[in-house]
Amino acid sequence: MPNKIILDTDPGIDDALAIILAINSPEIELMGITTTYGNVEIEKAVRNTFRVLNFLDHLDVPVYRGAYKPIIEEPHPIEAIHGSDGLGDVDIPAVDAELAGDAVEFMIEAVRRYPHEITIVSIGPLTNLALAMLMYPEFSNKVGKIISMGGAFGLTPYGYGNDTPVAEFNIYSDPEAARVVYDSGAEVYAVGLDVTNNPKAMISPEERERIRVEGGRIGKLFYEMTRRLAKLSHGVHLHDPIAVSHAIIREILSFKKYRVTVELEGRYTRGQTIVDRREELPEFLRGVPNIYVAYDVDGDAFKRLMWDRVFSR
Ligand code: RIB
Ligand code: CA
Repeated sequence: MPNKIILDTDPGIDDALAIILAINSPEIELMGITTTYGNVEIEKAVRNTFRVLNFLDHLDVPVYRGAYKPIIEEPHPIEAIHGSDGLGDVDIPAVDAELAGDAVEFMIEAVRRYPHEITIVSIGPLTNLALAMLMYPEFSNKVGKIISMGGAFGLTPYGYGNDTPVAEFNIYSDPEAARVVYDSGAEVYAVGLDVTNNPKAMISPEERERIRVEGGRIGKLFYEMTRRLAKLSHGVHLHDPIAVSHAIIREILSFKKYRVTVELEGRYTRGQTIVDRREELPEFLRGVPNIYVAYDVDGDAFKRLMWDRVFSR
């Protein structure tokens, strides 16, 4: 039975690849795509979602507009990484398509209609999800699972920040939203930089060249979309597809439950995801674990999945 998924996204290059992975995976029933500000401002996130769906000839997937800004701060799009259009300035056409509605209302309606069956995969800031939880008290009890690409938990040598020295971009974009989601009581699986920056799961320059030569139409799109990214760092990190992979092949990621809180006040540490690792203490002396955090990734299995569902297509 395919997993009923809502993909909450801020496309973004790796978001686009995550959308393609989800659509090309029979293990997923994609109920809809909700959009959020993040890598780009909201209208560009909507536009890019339609561009990717049109490229796949899948404009049948309903798209919903979400938050245009975080709960407290202002959005800080990162054109330096994702290009001025948000998809690496790649030449795929924009398309006039109609939105299906409002993202938060759709999330609430889906969870009401299919209690305990919906997995929400959030690969951008958590604002939409937090708003759904704040608007519908039953949400965290009725949603199935939440998979969130976000955070830097210090569980591996790669688990430090990217937007700041200690904070990862999606969490740093809206730390208040992350605090709401982490403390909601829902079953949350956090996929942080600890695993998505692991070189085992990174596309090396040699692998990227092989994808250009031996890949299919989507492989070539990947190569074009990542021209800028490939110059900025040694390889291409596929943060969002790694998070989506947990809804396809559970064994690719390994998780452990921890007590995690999100720093909101620190001048230098706002958005840091802080893990209570004092496991030698009894739970009443330390925080009761609240979310599952990824601590390892099977890079070979992930790359096989990406080759089969994305790059070779
Ligand atoms: O830190 C990586 C995350 O921030 C990814 O979701 C990427 O798309 C950006 O949004
Ligand atoms: Ca993203």
